Amino acid sequence: MKLFLDTANLQEIREVASWGILDGVTTNPTLCSKEDMPFETLIKEICSVVSGPVSVECVSTIADDIVVEARKLNQLAPNLAIKIPATIEGLKATRVLSSEGIKVNMTLVFSPSQALLAAKAGASFVSPFIGRLDDISHFGLDLVQQILTIYENYDFPTEVIVASVRHPGHVVEAALMGAHIATVPYAVMEKLVKHPLTDIGIERFLQDWKKVINK
Ligand code: G3P
Repeated sequence: MKLFLDTANLQEIREVASWGILDGVTTNPTLCSKEDMPFETLIKEICSVVSGPVSVECVSTIADDIVVEARKLNQLAPNLAIKIPATIEGLKATRVLSSEGIKVNMTLVFSPSQALLAAKAGASFVSPFIGRLDDISHFGLDLVQQILTIYENYDFPTEVIVASVRHPGHVVEAALMGAHIATVPYAVMEKLVKHPLTDIGIERFLQDWKKVINK
């Protein structure tokens, strides 16, 4: 399973990159709005830290405009994926861009039919937002399972990025289902590695190490 960091914060990206487990980054306009840096400079800098795909989102809503914006964004770095919301206009743009070899990450996906159409339009990635579904009393992970089944049934090469992840259980369940990627906020990424029994175990071993005869 590939792990992406869901942030536009360079400090967080550099930190997790140093752990040796980071496969990519996803951003969105909300995440970029939290950073005190010009947008294009920020994206170029993120792309220089991470070798895997960095998703950056289009804000145009009409297909022709999305295509123009995506082509421009794609020139910022060689490792970009362009996020496009799952709308009819988004599908039209995805078909054009994917045939040009531009990687599209179809985002704001909340139904299996949206994911099916994203794959048919040639999206490289599809991003179901599972936490936002949980927030309205649906089961976000059910959507992930449905998408994986559909993609498997027809051998679609589109990779599923489990997004809007809120806790480590989301990541573990997605991994058990065989989801290709989870994009994880920094706070959840930390929780993936931390365990109180590990901390207690280290503490005890360090105490006992003092009693070991080392001469
Ligand atoms: O990758 C999508 C993610 O940024 C959305 O997460 O927490 O705003 O639902 P959230």
